[in-house]
Amino acid sequence: MTEIELIQKIKTELAKSLAKRQHGFRTMQVGTVDQNGLPQVRSVVFRDYNFERGELVFHTDNRSGKVSQMFHNSNLALHMWDERSKLQLRWSGIATLHQEGEMFESHWKKSTPGSLKVYLAESAPGTKSEVASHNLPNRVLKKKELTKDEVEPGKANFCVVQVAAHSLEILHLGKAGHLRALLTQVDSQWSLSWIEP
Ligand SMILES: Cc1cc2nc3c(=O)[nH]c(=O)nc-3n(C[C@H](O)[C@H](O)[C@H](O)COP(=O)(O)O)c2cc1C
Repeated sequence: MTEIELIQKIKTELAKSLAKRQHGFRTMQVGTVDQNGLPQVRSVVFRDYNFERGELVFHTDNRSGKVSQMFHNSNLALHMWDERSKLQLRWSGIATLHQEGEMFESHWKKSTPGSLKVYLAESAPGTKSEVASHNLPNRVLKKKELTKDEVEPGKANFCVVQVAAHSLEILHLGKAGHLRALLTQVDSQWSLSWIEP
């Protein structure tokens, strides 16, 4: 595979993953560094990207542990794996938290009530509970579908995380042999170097 073919393959798969729920890239793993300097990792839904600029976006709750970790240390690692295309992507970057403003508003606007209802959680995610809890008001649990107006109170807890990636390590698994490359952002453009798998 040539450099051009590899980049094209990544672009194609990233585009597919936003359209297809089942795509491997759709759920990515986000690594943060906590207040004790320890690594923390969890899954989030991949929401948007700009490949040329190395930007990726996910949504989260303002009150979550990862948000305080990113306030403390904005270095992030993102991991994606797609079984069908045999691609692993390892992004490293810096997080910017949007709790208001243009990007925040446009993501709130284009998200469905189904994906936004989690922001109606009454207690901060991760709070200790005496009982098994879904952390959602009863009126929300009882309803199958909510309207955008009904999820609006959750907007105060919504956070858009924009990641500016400075490097992307690619691993492509192949029967005939694997292929590994490192992309780094140089003057706002990706520059590729091959590395041994
Ligand atoms: C498939 C899947 C998708 C998830 N998507 C998100 C997401 O988009 N945003 C989010 O904050 N948490 C998401 N979660 C929950 C997180 O993995 C995590 O449990 C939660 O955000 C609390 O993490 P924290 O305490 O490290 O902040 C998802 C979990 C799974 C299993």
